Amino acid sequence: MQIFDAQRIREDFPALSFCNAKGQKIVYLDNSATTQKPRCVIDALVDFYQHTNANVHRSFYEWGNRATEAYEHTRASLSKFIGAQYPEEVIFTRGATESINCLAEIIGQRYFQQGDEVLVSELEHHSNLIPWQMQQKKRGIQVKGWPIDANGNLEVSALQTLLTPRTKLLAITQVSNVLGTIPNLKNIIACAHANRTFVLVDGAQALAHLKINVQDLNCDFLVGSSHKMYGPMGVGFFYGKRKWLEELPPYHGGGTMMESVFIDSFTEAGIPKRFEAGTPPIADVIGFGKALSYLQQFDWQNLTQYEEKVVAYAERILRTIPRVRLIGNPEKKTAVVSFLVDKIHPHDVATIVSDQNVALRAGFHCCQPLMHRLGCKGGVVRASFGIYNTFEDVDRLAEAIYSVLTVFKS
Ligand code: ALA
Repeated sequence: MQIFDAQRIREDFPALSFCNAKGQKIVYLDNSATTQKPRCVIDALVDFYQHTNANVHRSFYEWGNRATEAYEHTRASLSKFIGAQYPEEVIFTRGATESINCLAEIIGQRYFQQGDEVLVSELEHHSNLIPWQMQQKKRGIQVKGWPIDANGNLEVSALQTLLTPRTKLLAITQVSNVLGTIPNLKNIIACAHANRTFVLVDGAQALAHLKINVQDLNCDFLVGSSHKMYGPMGVGFFYGKRKWLEELPPYHGGGTMMESVFIDSFTEAGIPKRFEAGTPPIADVIGFGKALSYLQQFDWQNLTQYEEKVVAYAERILRTIPRVRLIGNPEKKTAVVSFLVDKIHPHDVATIVSDQNVALRAGFHCCQPLMHRLGCKGGVVRASFGIYNTFEDVDRLAEAIYSVLTVFKS
């Protein structure tokens, strides 16, 4: 097995050489919010605007052809990356949030009837809750919660009693952005399908850490975000099984998504164009393609195991620090460690460690129902990891937390 060389990987990320006024290099532990970008992605953006800037699917000159080719190349790479059967099953959007909003609206339009139910887990980010609550208001469906246990796990046995003949869809994350929980999606999806329930997987926090294969999972829909996968901001996608996408109506109207247009009617284009009205974020999609090629150089088993080791080390070290309490203890987790420091507000912790050039996130993490469930009224502090984080980063985090304890002597 190859050694996963995070030190070498760091050289590919120009932002990681940033030093503060005290000469301390950044310890970037906010990867669940957004990942840093490798040089090849940054170069691809500049290169597009310098040498290829043209619209896609409508320009007949060289730049236009090149832009279309590169844009569609990302679709093909992404479909391979997630194990989709056809490239047309991948639809580009502006982010995972837009993907879920779009899917909620078109799935709602096509399939929801008054009295239907949508089941959401308590681990969900607001972006996998509120769009369903909006459908609740609009179409008279009911959004129901699937509770986690005290450690942050979801029990498949509980699911069986929560699914009813009215449950149309289960919306569930592949990795929690607060606890790092990895639910056993394969079993969960099989259980939902046995009830004729669609499953939408929020892959935003998973795709940079775990190798996901949509055909193996057998999910109906999956969403993801480029900027959490070392790619540019402003691009996301959704995957849908071809048979469902072909049944679903468009979300936005405009150019590209139509076949023929008359003054009072139009006919819809096939997939994927039906869901991609208007000019997409072309440079960013092409940059996303570069991020995918960058990620493809790694042995993913190595990558996952390496990150899990760094996370386990962080948990071990944090447990030795007085007044620090880890939040959640899921059976299977990745990428994230959330914690509290006794009698110190999470925002104060994150602010003080930033003096040592350590970047953490603190607050509710767009997961207020989860915070209520965990009893964390002021939110939590979160360290989230990526491919370039090292054991030394964890040591720097620990030192920075000791400095917080010095500032706030009890
Ligand atoms: N969803 C992102 C996070 O968890 C922004 O930080």
